[in-house]
Amino acid sequence: MVIASSVLDRVLVLEMVRVTEAAAIAAAKMIGRGDEKAADAAAVDAMRTALNQLPMDGTIVIGEGERDEAPMLYIGEKVGSAQGSGPGIDIALDPLEGTSITAKGGANALAVLAIAEKGGLLNAPDVYMEKLAIGPGFAPGTIDLDKSVADNVRSIAHAKGIDPAEVTACVLDRERHAGIIAELRALGCGIILIPDGDVAGVIATTDPDSGIDVYFGTGGAPEGVLAAAALACVGGQIQGRLIFRNDDERARAKRWGIDDLDRIYALEDMAKGDCIFAATGVTDGSLLKGVKRRAKGSVTTETIVMRASSGTVRRVVTEHGHGVAS
Ligand code: FBP
Repeated sequence: MVIASSVLDRVLVLEMVRVTEAAAIAAAKMIGRGDEKAADAAAVDAMRTALNQLPMDGTIVIGEGERDEAPMLYIGEKVGSAQGSGPGIDIALDPLEGTSITAKGGANALAVLAIAEKGGLLNAPDVYMEKLAIGPGFAPGTIDLDKSVADNVRSIAHAKGIDPAEVTACVLDRERHAGIIAELRALGCGIILIPDGDVAGVIATTDPDSGIDVYFGTGGAPEGVLAAAALACVGGQIQGRLIFRNDDERARAKRWGIDDLDRIYALEDMAKGDCIFAATGVTDGSLLKGVKRRAKGSVTTETIVMRASSGTVRRVVTEHGHGVAS
């Protein structure tokens, strides 16, 4: 079987689930073992094996790093069993989003994957990205990365018909966010501080049950593109600006063809056209349950998989036979 070329084939929706499940199951064996590298390596290896079984001509555009620093799933690596004959598909992935969470047995570690037609995903370098995101239902222009935190909170509160003090923000718990946190505190907002895992943090803005209205802060640019792919499927807005810490990172951006280093990327600049986003829980979290070991060596996983063109969101709970957990 070769997957149809013009649009992503529906078959791929379930194939994506298999890929993130495989990475999550492999990483879960390392939960609480204190070894971030081993947890990440297990997830990378399993995800790569699963991707290579798919009949597609895939190219990693967001991966584990550049070729010289990542042995597997590096940016530019070709994956899939139909190289040259199958449809050209761009892939963004983070086999283990939350390596320290996994090593410490914390919440919200995920195996994450997004695919799009060629050119559908921003080829972001592995630098930081300043992010601002809200869920669906807001008018365009509600958020603006060029405006202050307070102005954005007031705009969101106005759109929701609530007081700014009733707005709850999700922020990565980092020193660099002291200014954001101070502005939010001055307004009396609620702040959910997360230790890691801003893909789940951004997606939480789309879930009314999370109580989170907005995501503020700087995290990885690859995670920004993955979060944008998720929002492209379920709705919402995200803006991102690449943050360069030194000349080396600026030079890298130039090599990638990025001329405007201060550019603000909107959702459609990061994920456009049809795309599929899948995430499987590694540890329990707000979005998904983590991998659970069952009797006789079987495991259960929970995955969310969604598609932009149809707006379909599926939650897939899978019982894996005893073969996978050994
Ligand atoms: P990993 O996938 O490397 O574990 O990333 C976890 C994470 O918290 C991301 O969600 C976030 O974008 C980034 O790290 C933040 O980077 P830093 O830890 O350097 O602040």
